[in-house]
Amino acid sequence: MTTYTAINLIARPTGPVGSELFEIVQKDMPSVGKGQFLVKQNHMSLDPAMFGWMSADTESYIPPVELGTVMRSSGVGEIVESDHPDFSVGDRVMGMMGWQEYFLSDGTGMNKVTAPLPDEAILSVFALPGLTATQGLYSIGKPQKGETLVVSGAAGSVGSIVGQLAKADGLTVVGVVGSDEKADWIVNELGFDGAINYKTDDLAAKLAELTPQGIDVYFENTGGPIQHHVFARMNAHGRIAVCGMIADYPKAEPDLAPNWIPIIKKRLTIQGFTMPDHFGEVPALLAKLTPYVMKGQIKHRAHVLNGLESAMTGLNLFFTGQNKGKLIVKL
Ligand SMILES: NC(=O)c1ccc[n+]([C@@H]2O[C@H](COP(=O)([O-])OP(=O)(O)OC[C@H]3O[C@@H](n4cnc5c(N)ncnc54)[C@H](OP(=O)(O)O)[C@@H]3O)[C@@H](O)[C@H]2O)c1
Repeated sequence: MTTYTAINLIARPTGPVGSELFEIVQKDMPSVGKGQFLVKQNHMSLDPAMFGWMSADTESYIPPVELGTVMRSSGVGEIVESDHPDFSVGDRVMGMMGWQEYFLSDGTGMNKVTAPLPDEAILSVFALPGLTATQGLYSIGKPQKGETLVVSGAAGSVGSIVGQLAKADGLTVVGVVGSDEKADWIVNELGFDGAINYKTDDLAAKLAELTPQGIDVYFENTGGPIQHHVFARMNAHGRIAVCGMIADYPKAEPDLAPNWIPIIKKRLTIQGFTMPDHFGEVPALLAKLTPYVMKGQIKHRAHVLNGLESAMTGLNLFFTGQNKGKLIVKL
């Protein structure tokens, strides 16, 4: 019997993610039944959200991964066997396939990938990062030409797209990052108007220098000390899209949020969102995003790890900021 490799989650993280949380298992290759197809996964996405999925939190927007089952993830692969009327051998598909080499599907939640682009570009732009950036920026941020936008996690897969979309729409765009290399990349490669290194800059002074007209839109990916400084510079009727709080994910107690009184005085809109609520809107989001990509206004970089097992420790790169762009595992 032929087998393939999968990785199960067997413990919940209490600190940095290591291989002790997982077990590598060999599974028997399944036989394809009527209405099913078998996918060989070629690239899978690593995402900060995985920390939430691994935790025992049942109050979140998605149930935790059950211990002893395959770790959850999305990926791109090719159909190698099919008895499904709508999916054929050779089709490239994307969906939640988990940390495993092969995935047996009945088609639920699987989408064909027809764009003639490498898997890395699909996962970096047209999958979760681009959809998240487009959803949060336009439905909550409501950017207007001439306004000022600040985005945290600005060199990351979501933040870099947010900033480039806003730049293309005629806003002044400032990104918050954790290294000079990332600051250089977003300003000199992506065209941001300015960058703040939250680890080394005087946050209040640098933010005041880069946002002389105040801030109209804040796309929040990280939390951390920068949040208070941005909040203090929000203009009346400003919008804050709360996408992620990675600075708080590894902490037992999250940081204190800013005082709420300015929300009233400045009539701010602050809204969190998670993408599973919007998966029904994917065609519309792609229709919005694609023209920017076609015009060459959205650059990306992929940080590719090699081998399924690299996922087990690769997740920590998010917390150290060592990922340079979209974190992807090549199987
Ligand atoms: N709401 C949704 O549906 C949704 C969907 C996708 C992603 N997200 C969220 O969006 C955020 C970005 O995700 P992504 O996939 O694009 O990841 P990413 O930005 O590519 O990678 C995470 C980055 O966060 C920064 N970071 C880590 N710890 C930090 C800290 N303590 N303070 C400030 N920055 C820190 C690091 O960059 P530096 O080197 O710059 O520190 C790291 O590279 C995450 O919070 C994620 O959970 C939400």
